[in-house]
Amino acid sequence: MTDAPVDVTVRDDREASRYEAWDADTLAGFARYLRVGESVIVFVHTEVDPAFEGRGIGSQLATFALDDARARGLAVVPQCPFFARFIQRHPEYADLVAEGPA
Ligand SMILES: CC(C)(COP(=O)(O)OP(=O)(O)OC[C@H]1O[C@@H](n2cnc3c(N)ncnc32)[C@H](O)[C@@H]1OP(=O)(O)O)[C@@H](O)C(=O)NCCC(=O)NCCS
Repeated sequence: MTDAPVDVTVRDDREASRYEAWDADTLAGFARYLRVGESVIVFVHTEVDPAFEGRGIGSQLATFALDDARARGLAVVPQCPFFARFIQRHPEYADLVAEGPA
């Protein structure tokens, strides 16, 4: 079955400025970010390997990254359309979105 959900391990690679989703030792996707000052994180691009698309990996990346932003007290700028849409569909994260220009 090619579209079964996959449980990945997500981790923050701060040197590469991206959250990475690993299926065992295979990199299945990542969410790239920029840090602005001490308190803002801008999500700029999310990419899931085509072999893994549509299996919940983008959602796991967004959930982990947004939970982490909350835990660290960071405001979020969802420049990446995938993150913007994810937050629209999960309004429990709307309060994280930074107001005004980043
Ligand atoms: C967009 C992308 C990251 C989604 O990853 P994924 O692992 O397939 O996502 P999930 O399986 O968790 O699906 C989450 C939702 O994202 C939606 N989605 C798919 N492509 C999307 C896109 N380009 N923008 C916004 N939402 C998208 C899906 O329809 C799904 O919605 P649903 O839960 O209501 O069905 C992946 O398809 C991808 O890498 N696409 C190519 C690069 C790209 O377009 N990146 C986004 C712009 S930065």
